[in-house]
Amino acid sequence: MSLYLGIESSCDETATAIYDADRGLLCHRIHSQIELHACYGGVVPELAARDHCLKIIPLIDDVIQAAQLPSIASLSGIAYTRGPGLIGALLVGATVARSLGFALQIPTLGIHHLEAHLMAVMLEAQRPEFPFLALLVSGGHTQLLRVDGLGHYQLLGETLDDAVGEAFDKVAKWMGLPYPGGRVIEQYAKQGNAARFTGRWAFPRPMTDRPGLDFSFSGLKTHTIQCYQTIEQEPTAIADIACAFQEAVMDTLYIKCKRALKQTGLSRLVIVGGVGANQQLRMRLTELMSICKEGQLFYPRSEFCTDNAAMVAYLGCMRMGRGERDDALAIKPLARWELS
Ligand code: KG4
Ligand code: ZN
Repeated sequence: MSLYLGIESSCDETATAIYDADRGLLCHRIHSQIELHACYGGVVPELAARDHCLKIIPLIDDVIQAAQLPSIASLSGIAYTRGPGLIGALLVGATVARSLGFALQIPTLGIHHLEAHLMAVMLEAQRPEFPFLALLVSGGHTQLLRVDGLGHYQLLGETLDDAVGEAFDKVAKWMGLPYPGGRVIEQYAKQGNAARFTGRWAFPRPMTDRPGLDFSFSGLKTHTIQCYQTIEQEPTAIADIACAFQEAVMDTLYIKCKRALKQTGLSRLVIVGGVGANQQLRMRLTELMSICKEGQLFYPRSEFCTDNAAMVAYLGCMRMGRGERDDALAIKPLARWELS
């Protein structure tokens, strides 16, 4: 048996998982710090790191038990998120993983958080074959990538400023909604009327009127906030703004995905990252793939769109199975780390 422990601690979720090379994912746990940070309207890095320290060992014990391993010594390897992310938060996962690896005399491997998000779709029974186009939309990143295989990624376009999730969170904050804002905006948008905004207040679809696959969401965010300020006294203000903002984001992602599919000739599209949990996004891209020749859409279940350790354990299993390991004893998390 080849059993891998996965540890994720890059931001505000402490997560652990056990992945078996033969039987697949055995179990996973996620502790979210949302309540801890809620009153600050965003993640406080120092509090995040301290909370990871409190939760990480109990969560490791928990998955070892849930997977019915006789002991932690049954593990073949440990994968942990090395970066990118909050440095203090990353340091907790990296230190625990490397110390455990040293004590148990088993290999460890630092995993790239975005690569783990990309591969989260492989945890599903409905998984794509390579190559595919990936839309990675999270709180920190917005990218379009061509994926030809494990470790073979070509960046086709990315955001020049705010990530999609970040724009959702900032717009929500301005409207007095709780953090993280993505899911809350999605709920409000269901009752909203986007069509009321016309003329000067029509919501832009940024960078869709020029060629290329890059994105920009900070102008749309500012437009949304200014528009909200003009109508905030109205009872339907939040719902209407949420609806118009979400529609503008989804239209933009739709147009860029369509363009990328045409440019690459790919017929499989994968949505990953926290914003991938958005039902409206899934609906729009299902529409898009239905008009593409042999188009197929794939996405992980919602709990594997947002941060989790199942994706880290899976990728650890794949990479350590090929003989990859951390080399020196040093513990070196990376707050910034390009996927390429
Ligand atoms: O991937 P993730 O858990 O963390 C990062 O690596 O960034 O993504 C979190 C982001 C947050 O910005 C959150 O607001 C957004 O994903 N998000 C959503 C939804 N669920 C989470 N955005 C839109 N609609 C959702 N349903
Ligand atoms: Zn993430």
